[in-house]
Amino acid sequence: MSKYYSSTQQRLTKLTDNFSFMRLLMFLSLMMLVGCALPKPATTTPPVVPVASATSAEPLVWDASTKEYTAKNGDIAAHLFFAVTNVSQADVLITEVTTSCGCTVARLPSDPWRLTPKAGGRIQVVVDLRGKSGELFKGIVVQSPTAPKQLNVRVIMPPGFTNGLNPTMADRLFNQEMSQADRQSVFKGSCVKCHLEPAFGKNGAALYQVACGICHDATHRATMVPDLKTLHRKMDQDYWKNWVTHGKEGTLMPAFTAKEGGPLDDQQIASLVTYLETQYPQPKIAPAKKD
Ligand code: HEC
Ligand code: HEC
Repeated sequence: MSKYYSSTQQRLTKLTDNFSFMRLLMFLSLMMLVGCALPKPATTTPPVVPVASATSAEPLVWDASTKEYTAKNGDIAAHLFFAVTNVSQADVLITEVTTSCGCTVARLPSDPWRLTPKAGGRIQVVVDLRGKSGELFKGIVVQSPTAPKQLNVRVIMPPGFTNGLNPTMADRLFNQEMSQADRQSVFKGSCVKCHLEPAFGKNGAALYQVACGICHDATHRATMVPDLKTLHRKMDQDYWKNWVTHGKEGTLMPAFTAKEGGPLDDQQIASLVTYLETQYPQPKIAPAKKD
């Protein structure tokens, strides 16, 4: 777990180190945008190139390098995505995406992300709109040995824009949106302070309380988070082990195993399973016939 923590720290430090560089990049890309807005000289149509054999100098083709979103009242975050396809004959590795401020988060489908020839996918971007007004212009740097790229997002908040929430509720809904974009978010960035750091060095009951109880035993538990005490299910060793290890794709329940980007090693997961098995006795239900 400490290994994970230090890599988070390193990333934070790297972000800060990159900050002035990022500002320069953003400035340059702004200048480029301004350049694009100027009328272009008439271009001569190039000779017809058969699409199939066209060899692009750039291995990656992006659907756009700048995306825009106009916020609607009630928005806590702007969600944008960039679609990309590898048009080259070789694998392209994207090692990391970094953003120009903590208020913008970019997520790769996997970390790092390897695109085989013809493969494609999306980079998701979430921009925090809490307490913001006017216009935001944020840069995203795609780091890759063979296909680095600068992407930009512009968010316009019309006059009078508000999300009409108190700050606590806005924070909570924002966090939920972050988890919707990536359920492993709780183990990253600013979320680690509450969702991960308290779990360091803990096992069993103490680990459950801070790592799981924060969501499952919250006083005002969110509707999508089940109350584990009132489930009528077969809750055996495998049940607990599976849920803790893998969580569930497409929900807010994260995977806790280090093998899937979580913070726990096998020994810590085993300690949780032992605790949970004794803490949540089996409900009295008839066992399934073919199990
Ligand atoms: C200041 C501590 C704190 C931080 C920072 C924090 N959380 Fe939480 N989180 C909580 C608490 C406490 C709960 C339990 C519900 C409640 O009381 O609001 C919770 C619950 C959740 C839930 C369950 C749904 C819900 O609303 O109850 C999700 C998902 C979640 N957090 C994701 C995140 C993500 C993602 C981040 C970082 C972007 C984050 N949290 C940052 C304290 C925090
Ligand atoms: C960020 C909030 C969050 C944290 C932290 C969290 N869970 Fe969950 N958990 C959820 C949500 C949301 C679901 C519902 C998933 C679904 O929709 O099926 C869930 C589902 C589950 C289920 C399945 C219940 C069922 O329907 O059978 C189990 C078991 C579970 N969690 C155990 C744990 C344990 C153990 C931990 C700690 C290692 C943990 N959870 C940490 C949010 C959380």
